[in-house]
Amino acid sequence: MIRRIKRKKRIGILTGGGDCAGINAVIRAVAKKAINDYDMEIVGIEDGYEGAVNNKHKRLDSRDVSGILTLGGTILGTTKKINPYRYAIKSGNDFKFKDMSKAVVRNIENLELDCLVVIGGDGTLGIAYKLFKDGIPVVGVPKTIDNDILGTDLTFGFDTALSIATDGIDRLHSTAQSHHRVMVVEVMGHNAGWLALYSGIAGGGDIILIPEIPYEMNKIIGKVKERHKIGKRFSIVVVAEGAKPKGGNVVIQRMVKESSDPIRLGGIGFVLGDKLEKITGFETRAVVMGHLQRGGTPTAFDRVLATQLGSTAVDMIVNKKFGNMVAMQKSALVMVNLKDVAKGHRSVPVDSPLIKTAISLGTCFGN
Ligand code: F6P
Repeated sequence: MIRRIKRKKRIGILTGGGDCAGINAVIRAVAKKAINDYDMEIVGIEDGYEGAVNNKHKRLDSRDVSGILTLGGTILGTTKKINPYRYAIKSGNDFKFKDMSKAVVRNIENLELDCLVVIGGDGTLGIAYKLFKDGIPVVGVPKTIDNDILGTDLTFGFDTALSIATDGIDRLHSTAQSHHRVMVVEVMGHNAGWLALYSGIAGGGDIILIPEIPYEMNKIIGKVKERHKIGKRFSIVVVAEGAKPKGGNVVIQRMVKESSDPIRLGGIGFVLGDKLEKITGFETRAVVMGHLQRGGTPTAFDRVLATQLGSTAVDMIVNKKFGNMVAMQKSALVMVNLKDVAKGHRSVPVDSPLIKTAISLGTCFGN
């Protein structure tokens, strides 16, 4: 009689899109739980979907994921530019796009992965949903400083970015006050205003501008002048990179041609600062928080959230709940269908109680 040796279950982990604090904490949680509780094997796919297309991977054992809980970035590498369904190939000064998704499916099959854990933002998880439809057993974990993923109230990475942005605003407060200046602080967030809203409230911003509420210049000017009149000779303006004037457009910092989401926002802080200074005559400075918000050690909150999300992702694999993302809703860990996650991004509701609270405290939203 031939005895067949049952091979261990093998799961892959891929991190895609912009990095943020807490990714390694998720990798650690997934790997440790899968190894300790289920004796699974772990394969790390390198550099996001780039590695999935070009078969770049490495085995991860317990030692590889030890000591990474507090480490920023991702030990697997990432990229924001690769979409296997629209893979950019250099052609002269331009790019041609090719569907390379079959290569991904083939590579995953050759690696004999029983599941692929995809840690990413809306773009990365949207691709994960397509791969799921193409036959790959996928489980998603929501990651981004933007906190804009549909189906979850929270993404890991947001709390860390929020505390960095808030610390920046606090520091700018004292210099604004001393010099009697207007300080414009631009924070990230892509097309959503979560980071600006929360850091603006936490940092006591006088004016908070978010993409969901197009601003009017005269309202901002009115607020700054009103503060001056009552002896408050400085103002703090917290502006989301995706904020735009009523009837106007966002400010684009660069176009990344080879990316399927080519627009990189940025620069609104300087545009706004210049206008404010010219119109009011008040000395103004602009500061862009930029990628500082994505780097460094995760906050305790993000470490705990990332650990919970990673651990629940393993439960989902064991229970074969593929095609879903682990999510946080009303402080509980739940599962949401990737189909619903892939529908777009989560905006700040304009009737958010938080906005109402800020308005009642005198914050101007430029409307
Ligand atoms: O999605 C995360 C994020 O940091 C956004 O807030 C920002 O718009 C974008 O990525 C910046 O992208 P890049 O790293 O390509 O400059």
